Amino acid sequence: MDQSPPENTAHIYLIGFMGAGKSWTGQRLAKLLQRDFLDLDDCIERSSSKSIQEIFADHGEAHFRQLESKTLRQLAELDAAVISCGGGTPCQNDNIDWMNANGTTVFLDVAEDILVDRLSKAFAHRPLLAKQTNLQQFIINKLEERRSFYEQATHHIIINEDHQPVEKMILKKLGL
Ligand code: S3P
Repeated sequence: MDQSPPENTAHIYLIGFMGAGKSWTGQRLAKLLQRDFLDLDDCIERSSSKSIQEIFADHGEAHFRQLESKTLRQLAELDAAVISCGGGTPCQNDNIDWMNANGTTVFLDVAEDILVDRLSKAFAHRPLLAKQTNLQQFIINKLEERRSFYEQATHHIIINEDHQPVEKMILKKLGL
């Protein structure tokens, strides 16, 4: 018997690499579903009163990952929402298993060349990218390292072009 939570009452977690459009899409999806939208990074910033950059700079990545996993679990208490995760969220602390057991996960699988293009215009505020000397190679390697986690999502949306109506593609996939 399928033990996953029903898709209309559980959180929908959007996962995927930095620059995949998780927050942009999440806001639109939440509006269509008349649900709250939560951005995991924003929740971490609010609860720690520091920006993600400050958390990385002051306490390091390992501390950020602890906060990320803890905050993810705290959000489970709230009414069913659309939650955009950070690019590394599913790859740490069994978070992908936890999200799959507690909600519905959707992998926004954006083509590598689109990610490189988007992130080359938006890397300075992302601590993992800010100091890279070869951004393109870093993105290719990191994506390869993370793909096996992303692919454990319940649903997989392939995005090969900019400006696709991703929120509508997700609704269709979820049958909502
Ligand atoms: C991270 C992605 C970021 C943020 C942090 C780490 C990652 O979120 O959580 O900088 O490890 O990929 P976005 O995916 O929203 O950029």
